[in-house]
Amino acid sequence: ASPLLVDRFGRAATDLRVSLTDRCNLRCTYCMPAEGLDWLPKPDLLTDDELVRLIGIAVTRLGVTDVRFTGGEPLLRPNLDDVVAATAAMAPRPRISMTTNGLTLAKRAAGLVAAGLDRVNVSLDTLDPARFTRLTRRDRLDDVFAGLAAARRAGLAPVKVNSVLMRGVNEDEAVPLLRFCLEHGYHLRFIEQMPLDPQHGWDRDGMVTAEEVLTALRAEFSLAPAPGERGGAPAERWLVDGGPAAVGVIASVTRPFCAACDRTRLTADGQVRNCLFSQSETDLRALLRGGAPDEEVADLWRANSWAKAAGHGINSAGFSQPDRPMSAIGG
Ligand code: GTP
Ligand code: 5AD
Ligand code: SF4
Repeated sequence: ASPLLVDRFGRAATDLRVSLTDRCNLRCTYCMPAEGLDWLPKPDLLTDDELVRLIGIAVTRLGVTDVRFTGGEPLLRPNLDDVVAATAAMAPRPRISMTTNGLTLAKRAAGLVAAGLDRVNVSLDTLDPARFTRLTRRDRLDDVFAGLAAARRAGLAPVKVNSVLMRGVNEDEAVPLLRFCLEHGYHLRFIEQMPLDPQHGWDRDGMVTAEEVLTALRAEFSLAPAPGERGGAPAERWLVDGGPAAVGVIASVTRPFCAACDRTRLTADGQVRNCLFSQSETDLRALLRGGAPDEEVADLWRANSWAKAAGHGINSAGFSQPDRPMSAIGG
């Protein structure tokens, strides 16, 4: 048997996404209701030691080379710097990244770099303060700008920006967002909205497609496919006006990239998922708390990988959303 996290379709998961908390300090309309969600109870969350042990098993026994911390909002996790430092001390050292809303990044960036964080992806859907407040239900756009600037100053590279465009909300911002990112040296990616919201408000017509985004950008910029291997990366990249700057589109719905998927996911309550859209999870927390040795945990993780479906099936009849929302899965 392969020691790696392989599946029946010949893929190997080398990229671990770790959700550190399901809580968030924003309330983006496409992600959460204003009152928030029923947060995971504290005893259900992995402790720091449990978390580090599981990451260690993935890195030292299962061939994981890249670890990404997500949420909810990962910066809300107490002792995040210690978890990053423990991850950076593993051998072979994985590459370490984080996906954050950026609100408190200005205070945290330097410490996280010192702990071993390599790079960061920051969510930013609009440059307009009033719109930001409507979309996220918090008046914090300046904090995101400050977080982005601090990330770059602290040496996180590249700094990526994730934007979800929605019809009738911010679909006119493709060009301004790209100008902003070009000016500041951030790598922008536009993400197609996926059916992962707890309110089940997603509909195909409200989703701004990658093709629509590219059409809007082509009115102002020349785009050429960026050379190089895409590998398991969700983003298709385009050189802007001859490069070197590029823009990405993550066309999860209209051009699924599941055949090249290299991800495995760990939720804040210690469940492993082989796909964003999995209908089932493997409970590693129960195993840890039952006193299982590392190799037994690794075996169950491998079995979870092996059971991975070919793809998410968003475009097939009979598709149903996973029970857990994006904020609990880790995006
Ligand atoms: P890098 O390319 O390594 O920087 O990261 P990323 O783009 O995978 O991570 P990020 O957390 O910034 O996610 C950006 C968007 O891609 C989010 O909307 C994610 O939900 C989506 N995404 C990330 N991984 C997957 C995946 O395996 N499948 C699908 N369908 N979408 C994904
Ligand atoms: N579809 C696509 N992207 C989403 N995000 C949150 N919810 C969705 C969704 N339903 C984005 C966030 C963040 C990234 C991790 O995922 O805006 O940038
Ligand atoms: Fe991988 Fe599932 Fe995402 Fe497809 S939808 S790329 S299989 S995680």
